[in-house]
Formats: sequence, structure tokens, C-alpha cells
Amino acid sequence: MKFLVLGALFAVAYAKHEEYIGWKSYYVGVSTDDQVKALAPLVAEYELDFISHPTLSREGLVLVKPHYQAAFIQDAEAAGISYRIHADDVKSALDYDDQLIAAQKRTTVARNGGRQLPYDNYQELDVIDDYLDYIGEKYPDVATVVSPAKSFEGHPIKYVKISTTNFTDDSKPVIFIDGGIHAREWISPPTVTWAIHKLVENITESDLLDRFDWILLPVVNPDGYKFSHTNNRFWRKTRSTNSNPLSQICPGVDGNRNYDFVWNTVGASINPCTEIYAGPSAFSEIETRVVRDILHENLARTALYLTMHSFGSMILYPWGHDGSLSQNALGLHTVGVAMANAIHSKALPNFPNYVVGNSALVINYYIAGSSEDYAHYIGVPLSYTYELPGFSSTGNGFHLDPRYIDQVVRETWEGIVVGARRAGDLFTNLNV
Ligand SMILES: *[C@@H]1O[C@H](CO)[C@@H](O)[C@H](O)[C@H]1NC(C)=O
Ligand SMILES: *[C@@H]1O[C@H](CO)[C@@H](O)[C@H](O)[C@H]1NC(C)=O
Ligand SMILES: [Zn+2]
Repeated sequence: MKFLVLGALFAVAYAKHEEYIGWKSYYVGVSTDDQVKALAPLVAEYELDFISHPTLSREGLVLVKPHYQAAFIQDAEAAGISYRIHADDVKSALDYDDQLIAAQKRTTVARNGGRQLPYDNYQELDVIDDYLDYIGEKYPDVATVVSPAKSFEGHPIKYVKISTTNFTDDSKPVIFIDGGIHAREWISPPTVTWAIHKLVENITESDLLDRFDWILLPVVNPDGYKFSHTNNRFWRKTRSTNSNPLSQICPGVDGNRNYDFVWNTVGASINPCTEIYAGPSAFSEIETRVVRDILHENLARTALYLTMHSFGSMILYPWGHDGSLSQNALGLHTVGVAMANAIHSKALPNFPNYVVGNSALVINYYIAGSSEDYAHYIGVPLSYTYELPGFSSTGNGFHLDPRYIDQVVRETWEGIVVGARRAGDLFTNLNV
């Protein structure tokens, strides 16, 4: 009997990540505008999936399917685009990641007396949801859990409102942080739950509680997040289907192309089978509508919006759709640099420095319908996308080694602290 059970477990282990057999990932470097221009058509032609976008000074990382690898390499060489192998066998790199996650789980569960915490490992959706409920029950005076809607597949979309005045003091600026819109970016939700921890359970910056009201939404896209755990590690989109026949074969919308600002005009697709499908219409997704409604509900006093993505070690600000500067560009840049410096002061030496700049210009890639642009467009003065630190460059695994999650959440918190304080100063000045 025992052997049978073991056999079944192995069968499951072997079946994992099989869809990525033969896939490879490459570091890709572009150093001229001509190379940037040459790369763009290859993305569609070879269905390239960028896990991290290259900047002119830093390599990106791209997933390439088996049948496109030879042609991709040939075209890259012809255009002078540099490339080198990152994972020669993506499936085994993912298997290795799973071992690291299992080992991390053994360590943390032992350390926490059997409890799993949402910021000490890459966790299933239940662990994150349970943590939010726990916070709401244990700290009812400051934390309120809100579940305004269910996802396409029926999972509650949950966020926490944190306030010493129950959101009744209109003079307080609001800070809104979301994560997990892109399902596979697993380092994102832990940075948001760590912020909850630091505002409720382990308060070392009490001014942040007194001065601000907080809204923290760790997993905008629970369906996709769950699917990236159970089925397809590189799942990025939501899981919705619509009346487009292709959407039955290729479910899901790219949430960060679904916002109603210059929707579907650039860096997005109307083809449901692409990773950047903008959806049948702006705000077609309940998940993005939840974020929209939070933004509008508190718009008059929302000073800072952060949306957590990975990876790339970047802090990016509007306008991402055309690379132009907003009227508030100076504030956006100054506060962005202050956040990056704060992170840098706590970063590990082997992590790349944060790059701060205009979304489109830093990654040479214009996108329409992002939450960062939308929030700024409707009036949030400071709106940023964080591209958190990513993969380990040491070989074997694919994603950031889970032992670095603790480091990333702590250093990211330093950025949030400085961003909040600077936003508070700005907001107060605007209203005198
Ligand atoms: C906060 O306000 C809401 C109504 O907006 C109310 O239902 C809730 O009980 C209040 N919570 C506390 C802790 O006062
Ligand atoms: C709070 O955080 C500080 C700094 O990391 C740590 O030294 C302390 O043990 C923590 N306290 C609790 C109750 O977790
Ligand atoms: Zn993302």
C-alpha cells in the first residue's frame, strides 16, 4: 500500500511541467535602437515570451518554444542581437525550482511551528487568503478584509484596508498597492502581504499608520495564480473566456492590457492566443474592475499607487503607452529614485541595481491599457510599476530562489516606506 502511494506521487511529479519539454530560455541583449527595432517583429513571429524585457544596458530573458529556437537564433544573429542560453531545459529548471520550494517549505514550517506564511515561500492561494482573514479577525480595530467580487472562476478577490481611523479621516492620503495581476510573477504577492505584516503585526514605522490609510490587494488575479500553481507555471493572464471562438481554446486576458486608457492601441493584441491579449473590451475582466473601483472610490485622496510585477529590478512610471512625460514627471522621477535608493541601501550585492524611469523608454516597449497609466490618467499623482528582482543567475533553477523571498520583501518594504512618506509630503503640499 505504501509503495502504491509513493508510485502515485512520483507519477504526479513526472507529469509536472511537461508542456515545457524542449523549451529554452535565453538572455537577450540589445544595445542599439536598430536592434530594438529588429527584435519587435520576432516577438510575434516566434511567439517569444519575455519574462523580463531588455533595456539598452541590461539583458532581458525570453522563453522560446522548441520549433522556433533555430529560426530565432538565426534572425537574432542577423540583426546583431546578442543572446546566450539561460535554461537549456526549461522543464528541468522548473523541476529544480519545485525542489527548492519544497525544501523552503520544510524549513519555514519547522521554524513557524507548522504555520505557513504568505511571505516566507511561494504559496498557494489558500495560504494568502487565510492570512488575510486571520489579520482581519485578529486586528479588527485597524484591518478590514474586503471581498467585493468573485473572480471569473469564482474565487473571492480579497484586499485589506488598514486604517487607525476606519477610513473616515478625509485628510489622510491613501496608499494602494496591488500584486499578482500577472499570475506567474510569484514574487509579487509576498511583497504585498509583507507590507500588511509591517503595518499590522510588526510596526516599526508607526508614522505610516498614523498618517495614511492603506489598501493592500496581494492577488488581483486569483484564477491565473492558482492555475500557475496547478497547471502551467508560466500562466500570465486571467482565465476568462468570451464570445470570441478562439478564447475557448485560449482562455485568459492580459490584465495589464485591459484598463480603459488608450486601450488596445499599442503593445497589446486582439488575438486571445497571445500573452498580451487586451480582452474583448476595456475592463472586460472582473479582476481589473475591482482595481478600477478601488482607485475611483478613494481617488480624491490616493497619493500613491504601486503595482507589483516581476522581474527586472525596475521602478517604472507613466506614460507607458507613448514614452512621453506626464505633467508630474519630476515628482514621479524624484520619488521613484528615492524609493530605489532606499531599496538599494538594503539590497544584496549580487542583485542588480534598480533602474528608475519612464515605463516605455526603459524597456523600449510601449504598452496600452496598463494599470499604472490608468491610475495616473484618472488622477493618482504617483503611480508606479515595480519590476521586482528576479531569477538567480547561478544556473539550475528558473525563478528567484525562494530563500531570497525574505530579502526581496524586506528591501521592497524600504522602498514602500520612503515612497509613502514622500507621497504624503507631496499630497499635503498639494492640499494647502
Ligand atoms: C468601519 O466602518 C464601517 C462602515 O463604513 C463599519 O461597518 C465598521 O464596523 C467600522 N469598523 C470599525 C472598527 O469601527
Ligand atoms: C519585528 O521586526 C524586528 C525587525 O526585523 C524584529 O527584530 C522583531 O523580532 C520583530 N518582532 C516581532 C514581534 O515579530
Ligand atoms: Zn507583470
